[in-house]
Amino acid sequence: MSIKQFSSRTALIEALSAIIIKELQGDIDANDHASLAVPGGSTPGPIFDHLSQSELNWEKITVLPDDDRCVPETSEHSNAAQIKSRLLKDNAANAHFIPLYTGIETNNVPPAQEAELANLGQLTTVLLGMGGDMHTASLFPGDQILAAHSSKILHYVPVPGMAPKVPRISLTHSAINAARSRHLVLFGQAKLSAYQKAMELGDPVKAPISAIKDLHVYWAD
Ligand code: 6PG
Repeated sequence: MSIKQFSSRTALIEALSAIIIKELQGDIDANDHASLAVPGGSTPGPIFDHLSQSELNWEKITVLPDDDRCVPETSEHSNAAQIKSRLLKDNAANAHFIPLYTGIETNNVPPAQEAELANLGQLTTVLLGMGGDMHTASLFPGDQILAAHSSKILHYVPVPGMAPKVPRISLTHSAINAARSRHLVLFGQAKLSAYQKAMELGDPVKAPISAIKDLHVYWAD
């Protein structure tokens, strides 16, 4: 998969936001609804800020995390909290949000969330980040779910491969691959090298990002 390289992070954010907006509008035009799954971490915040200003009919869009930590939204580690504060504001304030973590300690995927996502159907767009260990969402190296296709949409991760070391709930690689499109955003040389290493390894268990198919990759230093 080719990597689109940008001269600045700002240029990448503007170009990728325009692509995501076009995809969401296309699904709204065709199906009167669209859905967007987004990552946590430090990378997506400026993209969220940009998307929140777009003139989309956000009332027809469902937003959900690619993964979340099993913590309350008051926690600094909550991806739902970052999505609500950086994306679901301004024009995007009226989008529908589906949390992955519902606050019920189940030590597993909340069945209601799996059912709600099944009912949502094919996701329009999945925006992904990647860790230096080549994980994406909360699919970490060594997780055997990556060894084969999974019929599940959500996956419970009791001990993630990096901080914060709290249980996670993640979209499966199969659920991500079932979406209409997938976009990976990478900032900095280390992430670029890690992605290139993942492509060389081509082993989904060792390099989870390589389990993601038909991935559009965007990089700026
Ligand atoms: C999360 C994300 C995770 C993230 C990578 C990269 O919950 O942390 O979904 O997969 O995309 O860890 O994080 P940074 O953007 O902070 O490097």
